[in-house]
Amino acid sequence: MIDLHTHILPAIDDGAKTLEVSLEMARIAVSDGTSVMACTPHIYPGLYMNDSPGIHAARDKLQHALDTFHIPLKLVVGADAHLVPELLDGLSKGRVPTLHGSRYFLLEPSHHVAPPQFENSVFQIMAAGYVPVITHPERLVWIEHHYPAFLELARRGAWLQLTAGSIVGKFGKPARYWSEKLLGDGVVHLIASDAHNTSKRNPVMSDALPTLESALGKEEAQRLVLDRPRAILDNKDPGEVAAVPGLADSSTSHLRAGQPWFKRWFRRV
Ligand SMILES: [Fe+2]
Repeated sequence: MIDLHTHILPAIDDGAKTLEVSLEMARIAVSDGTSVMACTPHIYPGLYMNDSPGIHAARDKLQHALDTFHIPLKLVVGADAHLVPELLDGLSKGRVPTLHGSRYFLLEPSHHVAPPQFENSVFQIMAAGYVPVITHPERLVWIEHHYPAFLELARRGAWLQLTAGSIVGKFGKPARYWSEKLLGDGVVHLIASDAHNTSKRNPVMSDALPTLESALGKEEAQRLVLDRPRAILDNKDPGEVAAVPGLADSSTSHLRAGQPWFKRWFRRV
């Protein structure tokens, strides 16, 4: 698997507190089947003042430690970029790193309140040539009253990333419900761990696979944890990447019409 959302870099945000924790997170990820991981610390002006040079340096240092301890995990650079007015400027000037230097980047909307002009802000960034990967929409408090916005953003070319733990109920019933709804509407592009530590927020993703495989089939499950993340690392044009089920040519009409198309295999919560 390829995990493109983690807070594994030590003492840089609210993720790993020490190098020892980072190393243990890496060991957990490797034993879970992850071979490539993006280091994506928060960039949140006023709170987490990370930038591209600092993240690159921290990645290099941690990769050296992993190599020293023979932990077979390849680290790439990214950031969990909070949606703020200066984000596009940060991306274009290189202060905010995209995922492995690609056109794709992690976009974190505020957790508790819908950002003003949310859709327009995202469209503006997309118009500049970036593909935002919107992080864990299923965990946002305000998704309940803004669900159609996520369908519209996906239809217009944004990618959506679910947290593996949400799918198996680690973030509670609402997050699980919205995970199933987004997966059911076929608009989820990838799964990541959003790991912060070695305990409750660990980098385990494999426990979501049985649910994904039984609901979406093995092939789509692999796309969620491997193929689309790899396409991001290869900076593939989104048009060349396997479409999510709800946006495949024959089924886009359901999103426009707001009609459910997906047989609800998921167990209701
Ligand atoms: Fe995150």
